[in-house]
Amino acid sequence: MVTAATRVAAVIGDPVRHSLSPAIHNAAFAAAGLDWVYVAFEVPAGRAADAVRAMDVLGIDGLSVTMPHKADVAAAVDSCTPDALALGAVNCVVRRHGRTTGHSTDGDGFLWGLQDDLSVDPSGLRCVVLGAGGAARAVVRSLAGAGAASVAVVNRTEERAVRAAALAGPVGTVAGPGSVADADLVVNATPVGMGDDGGLPLDPDLLGPGQVVVDLVYHPATTPLLEAAAARGARTGNGLPMLVGQAAAAFTLWTGEAAPVRAMAAAASAAH
Ligand SMILES: NC(=O)c1ccc[n+]([C@@H]2O[C@H](COP(=O)([O-])OP(=O)(O)OC[C@H]3O[C@@H](n4cnc5c(N)ncnc54)[C@H](OP(=O)(O)O)[C@@H]3O)[C@@H](O)[C@H]2O)c1
Repeated sequence: MVTAATRVAAVIGDPVRHSLSPAIHNAAFAAAGLDWVYVAFEVPAGRAADAVRAMDVLGIDGLSVTMPHKADVAAAVDSCTPDALALGAVNCVVRRHGRTTGHSTDGDGFLWGLQDDLSVDPSGLRCVVLGAGGAARAVVRSLAGAGAASVAVVNRTEERAVRAAALAGPVGTVAGPGSVADADLVVNATPVGMGDDGGLPLDPDLLGPGQVVVDLVYHPATTPLLEAAAARGARTGNGLPMLVGQAAAAFTLWTGEAAPVRAMAAAASAAH
């Protein structure tokens, strides 16, 4: 039951009404027996700094941040973690003792999902990341941090690919679409294939057995890329485990408790 003492966490974004985060986080609070509630605020572009200030005024202790606010929130919080600073993006804000700290839990969420869904440890793997936007940058940095042998970024705008690849340090490179053929792990971090666009972000004939293909898109659950990759013998996973993983990391940052990940994953699947 929500009472006057209930603590509040929220997601800000625009659009936000389709977000699975309220279902995931409210299931987590219930499973952990915590007196917290999680709501969604539709905050228009340009108003993210007002939302961060409102955390203090209203006593909101946790904030998830989604499009289009991740960069604006990085600039609006009192401080950022090294990950969030390097990425220039915040997807999770913690308010403690009146101060706000910006975190990026997308990279840890991605690695958690890779392990939980596919039992894949990227250490020593040759990785290709398609895209160079916010999600791609978090994935590139996390793969390098987890010991990938190489992280090649393939993106239609080369200048952004160069900046994303730099996040992987010495193992980061910019590559062309053909590099997918030699990869152990391929990650689609473009929106191609989302909804009913039916698109493929790469030539599927470059894929085959022995490869792992992850699509960060999770709607539909089986994207055209995942269908084509599975048909050619690759192992596949969608973006839902990453969504759960980043939420689990946020839960722990806000509450200081281990996240009830199975309850969170079940809620994500049910709401999906
Ligand atoms: N599963 C999760 O938890 C999770 C978390 C975050 C994001 N995502 C998903 O990841 C995807 C990317 O999100 P984002 O926030 O990184 O977006 P973003 O910052 O807008 O970046 C999009 C990237 O995709 C490329 N791109 C866009 N349309 C393309 C097209 N038609 N053909 C080729 N490349 C295209 C862009 O290339 P240019 O640089 O050339 O513009 C850019 O590099 C979305 O589908 C999002 O839903 C999933």
